[in-house]
Amino acid sequence: MNKGNKLYEGKAKIIYETKDKDLVIQHFKDDATAFNNLKKAKVEGKGVLNNRISEYILSNLSQCGIQTHLVKRLNMREQLIKKAEIFPIEFIVRNIATGSLTKRLGIPEGTILDKPLLEYCYKKDELNDPLVSKEHIFTFGWATEKEIQTIDKMTFRINDILIGMFRAIGIKLVDFKIEYGKTWNKDTKKKEIVLADEISPDTCRLWDAKTEKKLDKDRFRKDLGNIIQAYQDVARRLGIMPEETNISEVNFGKTIPIKFKKK
Ligand code: TMP
Ligand code: ASP
Repeated sequence: MNKGNKLYEGKAKIIYETKDKDLVIQHFKDDATAFNNLKKAKVEGKGVLNNRISEYILSNLSQCGIQTHLVKRLNMREQLIKKAEIFPIEFIVRNIATGSLTKRLGIPEGTILDKPLLEYCYKKDELNDPLVSKEHIFTFGWATEKEIQTIDKMTFRINDILIGMFRAIGIKLVDFKIEYGKTWNKDTKKKEIVLADEISPDTCRLWDAKTEKKLDKDRFRKDLGNIIQAYQDVARRLGIMPEETNISEVNFGKTIPIKFKKK
């Protein structure tokens, strides 16, 4: 599949056109950002790992009946995906309290939640992706009541599947962020809701079940070091560590700071 013009460049990924108007290419960069771009670095090999991990997770979800945007992985850094009209909402699911939840509401770090908590954030970098309610979503037309009903159900199902998937490899799924979009289904001639974007250690909090060692982007956010080793550990446990990749050849693991402004 030939890559056409760049359609969009985000903090960690680039989207390119293809000859098929319904399909685009998603390219995973090595760039890591935190605190809405205030902290920025290149983490060599991260894009390759997130591409593989996200492919694995979305394929597994798809086998469980969750519709996703993924068509297939094309190479080390790229996936062919369905072009989707992305809802401007981040759907955050929390099983254990940490991160912004503890800061915002003073909930003690590590509190196990009785049932998963679903939060909505409005995707708007200039506003730091603020937390919003369903009423905001309906009032401003970011999604309809019916769409949110479908998405909520899909999201809790995804959480159940992912908890099991990670538990089986000795990892606690603490929380994660997902995004959805609408794609055109040629067969049914209808728009359908699909899971979009990525699911990777960039977008989840993953703790080792025994030691609670962080195996996700918090290693970068909190300057804990060994970012790529943690992502590789996740890939290895999932059984998808790319055999063909010679780690030293692609300089895996080097973190090159780009900028870090404290707020
Ligand atoms: P938070 O505790 O910082 O709100 O993060 C909740 C989850 O969402 C955590 O797994 C990290 C993920 N996340 C993203 O994927 N992108 C983001 O921009 C933010 C703020 C969080
Ligand atoms: N992705 C967000 C950013 O760049 C924040 C985060 O993941 O912590 O800045």
